[in-house]
Amino acid sequence: MPGFEFFGAEERKEVNDVLETGILMRYGFDGPRKGMWKAKELEKTLSDRLGCAYAQLTSSGTTALTTAMAALGIGAGDEVIMPSFTFVASVEAVLSVGAVPVVADVDETLTLRPDSVRAAITPRTKCIMPVHMCGSMADLEALLAICKQHNLLLLEDACQSTGATWRGRSLGTVGNAGTLSFDFVKTVTCGEGGAVLTNDQYVFEKCDQFTDHGHDHKGVDRGADEHPYLGYNFRISELHAAVGLAQLRKLDRFLEIQRRNQQALHAILATVPEITFRTVPDPAGDSGTFLSWFLPTADITQAVVEGFRAAGILPGNFYWFNNNWHYVRKWHHLKEGHSLYALSPEQLDAMEVIRHQDFSVSDAVMSRCISTAISLSWTDAQLQEKGAAMVSVIQSVLSSVGATA
Ligand SMILES: Cc1ncc(COP(=O)(O)O)c(C=O)c1O
Repeated sequence: MPGFEFFGAEERKEVNDVLETGILMRYGFDGPRKGMWKAKELEKTLSDRLGCAYAQLTSSGTTALTTAMAALGIGAGDEVIMPSFTFVASVEAVLSVGAVPVVADVDETLTLRPDSVRAAITPRTKCIMPVHMCGSMADLEALLAICKQHNLLLLEDACQSTGATWRGRSLGTVGNAGTLSFDFVKTVTCGEGGAVLTNDQYVFEKCDQFTDHGHDHKGVDRGADEHPYLGYNFRISELHAAVGLAQLRKLDRFLEIQRRNQQALHAILATVPEITFRTVPDPAGDSGTFLSWFLPTADITQAVVEGFRAAGILPGNFYWFNNNWHYVRKWHHLKEGHSLYALSPEQLDAMEVIRHQDFSVSDAVMSRCISTAISLSWTDAQLQEKGAAMVSVIQSVLSSVGATA
């Protein structure tokens, strides 16, 4: 997820535009800003490029999720079904609006397993939140059908998948709302930032107000604005938006390189018959930020991870099963309800449920999965060298397993 790899004069120029006016805030100061509205321009460029009616910038992907949930009316006691594999921010955002996370299993799409979602529905379920992890997509056809059947909202966490599509539609624009992250390691970076995407004018207006203390933004005098709703400060700054604008203009180039490099690595790993690959419901829409692949067993996968470490090629290869942030197995702080402030009784009950929940179905997927991050800056020679080194370790592990079997 490497927008920062292609950083240069374009980003500097956009930032300098803002520094020259000295107006770092996205609202107000209409005179001194001399027509410079970087956040507004980025919102328009985002919605045009991604093909949705509205984009609302936020200070992060996490606050984009919180904002989207608030705008969709998700709050105290509402249950949100989410996958066991996601960055922990998705859970934090659910808790932040007083809602209750219900964790469902993942399948080889690396996100929500439709059967597990169906089994998790209760009368309190309000929303299904697929997380389009590692640049690719959930089984949106199945999840949309479940939402329709049970009258549920679909909120897409597309924070890791800017530019990916499903059947020609950008991820994040298919459900009632979707979110993007522009933090430093994402496909497009602002340094820090995020966005809510939606086609629903009501949802957009609420996002616009919620991210700025509830200001209705109807006049030019902020002090005279009405505040129809409670809101917070989840604003992006003009400096961050300026960086994002330059980055977003490069998105098509990023995607083209990522996809080419991903396919080249795929071809190399596919020479090992024991390797299988992530299920991608619409392969043309994969943004190519990662190549996610599976080995036959957890033991073999762990031996390959150790082999990569010993060979000095582990960086860039993510074994999420052992990661403290992305997989439910190591979310001890959540499971034990370690919060600085009091969580609601429903939320504490939900933590207890997650603590004792059987995630063996997810474990069977995640314990065999490695995601290789795709770099924009690899030369062909580096890519071939990397692929060959990976294959060499994998084959050596497989042959030693074969020898002892
Ligand atoms: C799936 C997912 N959701 C949400 C977030 C939160 O984004 P941010 O870091 O911009 O708050 C991230 C960030 O890594 C993420 O990967």
